[in-house]
Amino acid sequence: MNARNDLPDLSQLWMPFTANRAFKARPRMLASASGMHYTATDGTRILDGTSGLWCVNAGHCRPGITEAIARQAAELDYAPGFQLGHPDAFRAAGSIAALMPDGLDRIFFTNSGSESVDTALKIALAYHRARGEGQRTRLIGRERGYHGAGFGGISVGGIVANRRAFSGALLPAVDHLPHTHLPQANAFSRGQPAHGAHLADELERLVALHDPSTIAAVIVEPLAGSTGVLVPPVGYLERLREITRRHGILLIFDEVITAFGRLGAATASGALGVTPDLITLAKGISNGVVPAGAVAVRREVHDAIVEGAGDGIEFFHGYTYSGHPLASAAILATLEIYRRDALFDRARGLAQLFEDAAHSLRDAPHVVDVRNFGLVAGVELAPREGAPGARAAQAFQRCFERGLLVRVTGDVIAIAPPLIVEANQVTWMFDTLRRVLLEIDAAGQA
Ligand SMILES: Cc1ncc(COP(=O)(O)O)c(C=O)c1O
Repeated sequence: MNARNDLPDLSQLWMPFTANRAFKARPRMLASASGMHYTATDGTRILDGTSGLWCVNAGHCRPGITEAIARQAAELDYAPGFQLGHPDAFRAAGSIAALMPDGLDRIFFTNSGSESVDTALKIALAYHRARGEGQRTRLIGRERGYHGAGFGGISVGGIVANRRAFSGALLPAVDHLPHTHLPQANAFSRGQPAHGAHLADELERLVALHDPSTIAAVIVEPLAGSTGVLVPPVGYLERLREITRRHGILLIFDEVITAFGRLGAATASGALGVTPDLITLAKGISNGVVPAGAVAVRREVHDAIVEGAGDGIEFFHGYTYSGHPLASAAILATLEIYRRDALFDRARGLAQLFEDAAHSLRDAPHVVDVRNFGLVAGVELAPREGAPGARAAQAFQRCFERGLLVRVTGDVIAIAPPLIVEANQVTWMFDTLRRVLLEIDAAGQA
C-alpha cells in the first residue's frame, strides 16, 4: 500500500461501519475501477468479489452509465421533485415497474436502501390509516435482519450491534420473528435449505399475541445478505405470504441486495415465486454509480393512499433528491445494460458453477457451512476461541493482499461478484479463498 506520506490526512473522515483506528493504522485505498476489478492506490489489481457493497451488478465504470450521467449533469443538473418533475424520473419509474412482479407498478424514489425501508414502513402505516385502520401500527421484522441504518430500519432490523447503543430510542410497537439459521439441520445446503418453513408459523404466534388488527406490516429480506447470507428455507416465504394475506397485514420484501439479478432474476420475488405487497430497492438499481433507491408498491396500496385522499398532497413524505436527474439517468442506463446483456439470465446460467465452486470449500480448514443461491455465497468459519470474527477478518485481509475483495460479517465470508463475472474468475475466487484458509492459522493470528 502507499507510503503513508502519499496519503491525505486520514483523521477528519469518520468512516461508516469501519474500525476507524485499525483502518487508519493500515489503510486500504482504492484508486480506480473497471469491469471486474479495482485498482488500489499502490497499483495492485483486486478482483471485486462483492460487487463493491453488493451494488455494482453490471461491473465497474460501464461507459453506458458514466456517459449517461455526464450528459445529464451537463443538461439538467438538478430538478426539484416536489410539485415539479423531469421526464427521466418518470421513465426510470416505468423501467423499474416493468421489472417488478405483476401489480407492483407504483414507484417511489429514495436515495438509499435505508431510505427505501423507512419509506416502505411509512407507506404501510399510511395505507392502513387511509382505509380506516389507523390502529394498525405494529411492525414486525426478524432477528438478524438488516434494513439499513435509519431509526425505522434498526427498529425492525435484528442485528444486535446496530441496535445496542440506540435501544432506548427505537420505534415502539415492533416485534421480531426468529431468524432462519438452522445449522444443525441445514449446513452445506445447496440453494434453499430443506428445513425451517415452520419458523414462519411464529408469525401466527405474534399475530395471536398482538391481535392482527394492530399489525401493519411484516418486513424481511427474502435472502438475508448482510447478516451472513441466510437463504430462505423451502416453503418459508410462502407461509409468510399466506399468513400475512389472511390477516390483512402487508408483506414487505427488502430486496436492496437481492433485486437486479443477484438471484438470477430481476427480483428475489421472481426467483422464489412469492410476491409481497412492497419491495424496497437500492444498490443495483443504479449499479452503485449514483446513490439511488426506490420502493415498488402494489397498485391497490398506492391507490388507497393517493386516490383516497382529498385535494392537496396525498402522502407527506419525500426527499430533496427523490428522482434526482443523475440517479434517473444512472437507473435508465443501468437497466438498459441489464436488459441488453441479459445479465439476470447470465447470473442464472452461472449459478450451478458458482454453487459447485463455493461448495468445493466444504473440506477447507475452519469451514463449518457453505450456503448459496444465484450469485451469492456465504462461507462460515468456526470462530477462534474468545475472538469471534477474528478469523474471518484475517481471511478478509489476506484475500485483499492476494487481490480478492470479499465481505465479512462475523465469521461469515460473503462472495457476490458482479454478474459479468467469468467462469474462470469464479473458480479463482474460491481457490484463492481456499489458499487463504489453508495459510491463516499456519501463519499465526496477526
Ligand atoms: C437488505 C438491506 N436493506 C437496506 C440496506 C441499507 O442500504 P443503504 O446502505 O443504501 O442505506 C442494506 C444495505 O446493505 C441492505 O442489505
